[in-house]
Order: sequence, then C-alpha cells, then structure tokens
Amino acid sequence: MFSFFKKKKNIVKEKESPVSHVEKFSNIEPLLKYFQEETGITFEEQIDIFINKVILFCKQRNIYSFCELMKILKNDNIIKQDFVDYLTTNETYFYRELKQIKQCVEFAKKENKSIKILCAPSATGEEPYSIAIAMLEAGIPANQIHITGIDINREALQKAKQAIYKERNIHNLPLQILEKYFIKENDKYLLKENIKSLDFLHNPKLVQKLLLLKHEEL
Ligand SMILES: C[S@@+](CC[C@H](N)C(=O)[O-])C[C@H]1O[C@@H](n2cnc3c(N)ncnc32)[C@H](O)[C@@H]1O
Repeated sequence: MFSFFKKKKNIVKEKESPVSHVEKFSNIEPLLKYFQEETGITFEEQIDIFINKVILFCKQRNIYSFCELMKILKNDNIIKQDFVDYLTTNETYFYRELKQIKQCVEFAKKENKSIKILCAPSATGEEPYSIAIAMLEAGIPANQIHITGIDINREALQKAKQAIYKERNIHNLPLQILEKYFIKENDKYLLKENIKSLDFLHNPKLVQKLLLLKHEEL
C-alpha cells in the first residue's frame, strides 16, 4: 500500500507560544567606538542619526539590542560589511574637486612618464574617473596613466566598476566632455569602456590606515 493511502495519525501539535523580545537599545557608546576604530569615521554631532540608523539596521535583522549587534559584528564578517556599507555615505560627482584634479594633472605632466595614482576613497568612481578624463584631456597618453580606486564600501566599488551615472553625478561636467566620454541611455550616463579600465580594490584595513595617516598629518 502506498504510504499516502495510509490513514494519518492524529498528531496534536503544540501551539508555539510567541517569543516576546524585549528591545534594549541603550548605550550606543561601544558601537560608536567600534565603528570609529574600524573605519576612522566619527559621527560627532550626528550621534542621533547614527543611533536611528543603527536601530533600523537591527530591526531589519531581528536584533534586539546594541549589545547583541556588537557580538554579531565581531563574529560575522558579512553582517559587518553590510553595517559598514549601510553607514558610509558615497554621494559624490564628477569634477567635484577640480582644483585638486588640475594639480594632479600638472604633476603628471611634469613627470612625463608612467604614473600610478591611488584614489582613496574612490566611492562610486567619480573621482578616479574624473582624474583619468582630465589627464587624457591634458594630452597625457592613456598608457601612462594607472589609477587604483579603493573604498571601504563594497556596494560603492561595485557601482564604480559598472560606471553608470545619474544626472546629479555628472552635472558639473562641461557638455563637450560629457559627449566625448559618456553614452546617454534614457536618463542614465554610461562611461565609455576606454575610461572604465581602472583597477578597483577593496581593502578596508589598508584604506583605514591610509586615511588615519592622512588625518594625523593634517
Ligand atoms: C563622500 S565619499 C567621497 C569620495 C571621493 N573622495 C570624492 O571626493 O568624490 C566618501 C567615501 O569615503 C569612504 N570611506 C569612509 N571611511 C573610509 C575608510 N576608512 N576607508 C575607506 N573608505 C572610506 C566611504 O565609503 C565613501 O565612499
């Protein structure tokens, strides 16, 4: 006899009693300190924003206290990276720091040889790509330019590799540059392949050291 013809036994299932979790979102200090040590980022006068964002992060993952989150962050690198991605701001645009970019180009021209540039933090790519475009516009041959972009935010680096931008990211570019280096598709601006061939690394610890060093030097 096939098993599905057998009469099912009456199994009386015990009703699962709902577990009530008490939320304990108090004492943010250890998390603030941990985040600063890991990234170099301080929230200073924006602690309320930090607290609200952390609470939302916890609730989305059924984590009920800052203390519990801290334990998880120390043991789970995936959640830790999600946490860093969630709390870092990557908004930027092309030709944002034009004065610095021009100085970089002048330096490269004087060197007149192959040059390696480290762009830290590179966020979603606007800054390293701006440097590349400015170098090409100044007549520096493409094979002399090697730019590496690094950032602590994994999603930012993925976007940098895709190099698809919105109006607000390209608003500072002269029209002639825009037409030369981008392809417009609906409301998006796609960077042309010859500019996209940069390196993008992801090494938070290295970047953290670099940024902290820079900070100490100031
Ligand atoms: C507002 S963006 C600036 C990007 C670029 N330098 C520019 O001016 O266009 C700030 C970036 O710094 C990154 N960042 C913050 N702390 C970092 C750290 N310790 N190591 C690496 N990247 C970091 C963030 O992920 C974010 O992408």
